[in-house]
Amino acid sequence: MTDSLTVRDNRTGQEYDVPITDGTIKAADLGKIKSGEDAPGLAVYDPGFVNTASCRSSVTYIDGDEGILEYRGYPIEQLAEKSNFLEVAYLLIHGSLPDKAQYDAWVHEITYHTFVHENVKTFMQGFRYDAHPMGMLMASVGALSTFYPDARNISDADNRHMQIVRMIAKMPTLGAWSFRHAQGKPYVYPDNDLGYTANFLSMLFKMSESKYDADERLVKALDVLFILHADHEQNASTNAVRSVGSTQVDPYSAVSAGVGALFGPLHGGANEAVLRMLRRIGSKENIPAFIEGVKNGNERLMGFGHRVYKNYDPRARIIKKAATDVFEVTGTNPLLDIALELEKIALEDEYFVKRKLYPNVDFYSGLIYEAFQFPPEMFTVLFAIGRTPGWLAQWLELTQDKEQKIARPKQIYTGDRGLTFTPASERWA
Ligand SMILES: CC(C)(COP(=O)(O)OP(=O)(O)OC[C@H]1O[C@@H](n2cnc3c(N)ncnc32)[C@H](O)[C@@H]1OP(=O)(O)O)[C@@H](O)C(=O)NCCC(=O)NCCS
Repeated sequence: MTDSLTVRDNRTGQEYDVPITDGTIKAADLGKIKSGEDAPGLAVYDPGFVNTASCRSSVTYIDGDEGILEYRGYPIEQLAEKSNFLEVAYLLIHGSLPDKAQYDAWVHEITYHTFVHENVKTFMQGFRYDAHPMGMLMASVGALSTFYPDARNISDADNRHMQIVRMIAKMPTLGAWSFRHAQGKPYVYPDNDLGYTANFLSMLFKMSESKYDADERLVKALDVLFILHADHEQNASTNAVRSVGSTQVDPYSAVSAGVGALFGPLHGGANEAVLRMLRRIGSKENIPAFIEGVKNGNERLMGFGHRVYKNYDPRARIIKKAATDVFEVTGTNPLLDIALELEKIALEDEYFVKRKLYPNVDFYSGLIYEAFQFPPEMFTVLFAIGRTPGWLAQWLELTQDKEQKIARPKQIYTGDRGLTFTPASERWA
């Protein structure tokens, strides 16, 4: 068997051998196929990159048919059960697990960079009282580039490391302050005695007490949610980070583009839609009628189905377990019973089985966030904090990848050509 593709161009009758490497062909090789000497080379039309690899990456592996998700080769189930978010962040950034000294140094670095410049606080206070926290997060992480102009020096490894530490450390501070802002509550400074996730909860919920003491089970559940969201290979926001990063801009600007992409309802907003759906169903008795509506094509079962997973999303299984732990502390949410029943019925129903529609990560995550008393606008902010190490690991990989170029897709031009311009004074006369 030869690893190549023979292409016959029926316009010219000419044949071409295109090498196949890692199951892909190089789009540039197709560019050599031309209908005439001066004609443009053949290109690929692929809106939404549904079948185009944009990079080589060793960060995250997904097998959607088998329901497998691995960070740097480690299955998500093991990381969620036995690791913690900062160790997973180290793994994503560095490519391997830390030894004790490396782990301690990493946790120390992240912990001591959680504070932001006082002027960040001042400009965040300038947002309108009802500003969406995701808009505030996007703007403030981008603005960090003005506080660290040295971040533009992306060819220096120590410098890159510094910005990575700063960003992972400061995202919870910015996220928590965006939340407090909408509530009219004073911003809470980081507490460096606390772990990463416990400190985040403190910055969110602390009032007059001298120390905020979150329930350990809640800290663990939120930490697991961060782990589950930490990376997901070339998704829309990661692609945004890479695309903007390919211009060699500083990483704060690149990550703020990622936050912008995540803000969109097609990316980060599905868990809120699940909550709305569960509320609308209202009680278990209404489920059969709702399912009929879905099967008739009148609506979608939100939190089911995935572009990549054609099996149970491995993250959904872990989240389901985390939901049980959280409800042990906060008391159950009646919507959980509806979700469980809905899942049971859907998994047995031929419509869903035939189409390989299984619960995805968003089916239960909204219920957990609601139990923490987060308003829906905060759901994507939590996602962004979890995704930050993934965005940065991908950005770091990009900066060192010799094959990468500035991201600049082609187009198929469909407009007019060569028109003659008439000045407005003549056109309107
Ligand atoms: C995630 C999603 C956008 C993936 O879409 P996709 O890969 O383009 O899949 P398609 O829309 O082509 O769906 C394939 C088939 O399953 C059906 N389908 C997909 N998701 C469905 C859902 N949630 N409920 C009911 N039917 C669904 C489609 O109607 C289609 O049926 P058909 O072949 O009879 O036309 C889609 O499954 C969806 O909208 N899910 C709900 C929203 C959600 O939970 N999003 C979060 C993703 S993490």
